[in-house]
Formats: sequence, C-alpha cells, structure tokens
Amino acid sequence: LVAGIDSSTQSCKVVIRDAETGKLVRQGRAAHPDGTEVHPDAWWAALQEAIDQAGGLDDVAAASVAGQQHGMVVLDENGAVVRPALLWNDTRSAGAAADLIQELGGGDRWTDAVGIVPVASFTLTKLRWLARTEPDNAARVAAVCLPHDWLTWKLTGSTDIGTIKTDRSDASGTLYWSARTNEYRHDLLELGFGRRIGVPEVLGPTGVAGHLPNGAPLGPGAGDNAAAAIGAGAGPGDVVVSIGTSGTVFVSSDVAPNDPSGTVAGFADTTGRFLPIVVTLNAARVLDAAAKLLGVGHEELSRLALSAPAGADGLVLVPYLEGERTPNRPDATGAIHGLTLQTSDPAHLARAAVEGMLCALADGLDALVRHGARANRIVLVGGGARSEAVRRIAPALFGLPVLVPPPGEYVADGAARQAAWVTLGGDVPPAWSAETPEVYEDDPVPLIREQYAGAQDAVVNRSR
Ligand code: XUL
Repeated sequence: LVAGIDSSTQSCKVVIRDAETGKLVRQGRAAHPDGTEVHPDAWWAALQEAIDQAGGLDDVAAASVAGQQHGMVVLDENGAVVRPALLWNDTRSAGAAADLIQELGGGDRWTDAVGIVPVASFTLTKLRWLARTEPDNAARVAAVCLPHDWLTWKLTGSTDIGTIKTDRSDASGTLYWSARTNEYRHDLLELGFGRRIGVPEVLGPTGVAGHLPNGAPLGPGAGDNAAAAIGAGAGPGDVVVSIGTSGTVFVSSDVAPNDPSGTVAGFADTTGRFLPIVVTLNAARVLDAAAKLLGVGHEELSRLALSAPAGADGLVLVPYLEGERTPNRPDATGAIHGLTLQTSDPAHLARAAVEGMLCALADGLDALVRHGARANRIVLVGGGARSEAVRRIAPALFGLPVLVPPPGEYVADGAARQAAWVTLGGDVPPAWSAETPEVYEDDPVPLIREQYAGAQDAVVNRSR
C-alpha cells in the first residue's frame, strides 16, 4: 500500500491505494481554516485527523505529500514557525512583485533566470513583503519552505531545519530556483529578502525526503498542480484544466516555456520535465458567487445556465472577484457587462458566470499554445467540473474535446502514484488503470470569447 496526501487551501485529504494496481483501499479528509493566511499547525492538525480517518499509515510502504503551492512558511533556527504562512492567494505582496520586476530590470530577466515573472502568489514576493513590513519577524527567519515541504518534514519527526526537502515542481514556483538549470538562485533570494536563509534540498522525481515512524520512505512530494497531472493520468497533449479554488491550465512538456509577460509560468513537473501553467485566482468560487447572487443552489445554477443561449445575448461576467493574477490585476474587481432588459434574468446571469469563468481559462489555453504547448484534448477536473453546465459549455470555449474523469482526489492520487514510483522504482510512474472519462464535444463558438474580450477591455483595461 501507498499513501498520497493533498494539503489544499481548505482541507487535507489522504488516499491509501494498492501500489501495483492503484486500487483505492481507504481514505480520509479533514477541513482546516482557509483564507489567505493560515498557521501551518492548522494543516498539521487536519493531516493527523485525515490520517486517522484513513486508518493510519502503519501499513504503508511509502507516502508522498502534495500541497497548495507557493505559501511562505518561515522557520526560526529551532524549526519553530515564525508567523502564519502567507498563501498563494494572498495579494498583499503585489507591490513587492512590481518592485522585484523593476529591480532586476524587467520580466524577461526573471524568465531568463527562473522561468517565471514575479506576481503576488510567488514565495519571494511574500518574503520581500515580510522583510519590509514585519522586520522583527523577518529578523528571526532562519529558513523558508513551502506547505508540502513543511508537512513532509513534520511527518519525518525531524526538527532540524537542515533536513527539510522539496521537489522540482514546488521549488519552481518560488522565484529563487530554476527549473531549467535545476539550481537555486541564492542571489535572487537575497535580492528579495535582504539576506541568505536556509532553503530545502530539491529532490529528483523519486528522491527520498525522509521516513515515516514505520520506516517507510517519504517521496519528494509535489505542488498540487503537478501532482494532479499524474493523478489524472494526463498523457502528452492532454491539457489539464482544474477548476478549484484556483483555476489552472497546464500540460506536461519536454520544453521549458519562456514567457516574459508572465502569463505562462515555467514550472517543473514531477517526472523531471516541465509543466507550463496558467493560473487564475477566480474559478469555482465564481460559480459559488453566482449561485449566492441568484439565491439558488449549484444544480439550479447549472440548469439556468443551460437554459440561456450561448453568449447570453451579450451579457458578460468578468470574474475578477478576488482581484486577478492572469491577467495580472491584483486590485481588479468583477463586473457585469452588457446588461439590457432582455438579459436581466437569472438564466442569462447564470450563463454569463459559467462562460466568464471558462473564458478566463480558455485565454490561458491560448497562451499555453502560443508558447509551444501541444493541446489535443482537455482533461477537466476540480470541484467546478461537477457542474453539468461547465462540462457542456466548456468544449465550445476550448475548441477541443473535453474529457471529464469521474470525480476524485487527483492531487492526493498523484502523490500516491509518486509514492508507488518511489517504492516500486522504474523510469516512469507505475501504470495504474484509470476509469473511463465522460467525453464532451461541441463546435467552437468564437462569439463568446469575442464578447468576453470586449467586456474585459471595457471594464478592466480602461480603468488601469
Ligand atoms: C499555482 C497556484 C495554485 C495553488 C492552489 O501557481 O498558485 O494553483 O497551487 O493550491
């Protein structure tokens, strides 16, 4: 047996699977506080509850932890957490991101150095914010690591900050490690934070990060998106679109993208290759907000959306409810554009919400393709994929067949598959048979994307 763990923005999930076949044996889940700033102890408590629910880890031969990316976990020299972690969705370091771009001489300098351009999500911008805003806390920091690194380290029982490990996929979202050269850029860490501090060792795909109390190895773990790529069994040309707290569009690739605009981030994957990715801050919660606005549940929202015409007769919802990261507008707000007497009803608004959220992700797909990604099919996962309206409308916007695997814990499953790879060995992760996905197809409807681009221009770009 192997265990896969997903420590997400809202909860902790544990799956225990048969290492050879991938068959699900047991699982557990526990919620923890969400938001944009959370103390890591809350993740640890949720992890222990989820492990208990899953019947413990005593009988597993290996485990791996995947988690929300980029969160800044800062530790003092004794290994104690200095302050609550600032998470990927915290935008207060947007000013620091702009400063860092300017200080290095532009976005292209950053992509040349580390494959990504500073935005408030990435770890180094948070360290700069800490150094400038909380100098007393900053002075106590001896090491920085990421949520999945910290949990893996806690599972080993070590308190020595010199023993923390990470993996390529998560290291590639820090701004101080390069996926292309597989090396830290301590100079950039120093540029951001003002001095050098400890960082975890970056392990390869099947590296061992430590051991559980029963002696079982812990794999290197992964960022949640990279874990989902192997958890959902995405093959070459399968672009994963995940509609969760964040919206992500990514594909495993042999080639590192180079996008100085920062739209496509050049992350690493879990197999020694790359994971070009576009990330939006507004995804499943756009549907939550629309349902709340209309006073309906999710099923009714979906029914309403499907009852309105494609393009909602020109009603467009620009979904920047939490500011946005792609395009990089941390202070933007959402907007409803094109309201007329004809479009003033729940069905049009429901349709506009689903289309607006999907248009932002379809823009992401276009950016990936512009930067060389091969895109044959979409693999749609995450909570948002449970909406029938999302599944049925998506092909018209992506212009590709959309495969929806059965609902599952793809991040935890990816971590489990990595753990199986660590214990079974081999050049590639073990082949686990996947359940047959539902397939949705439709002709592209360019009008919807055009209307969306027009509304974006009207409500966002003009207020820059
Ligand atoms: C990726 C990102 C999000 C988080 C969500 O860059 O910020 O997808 O990983 O957990």
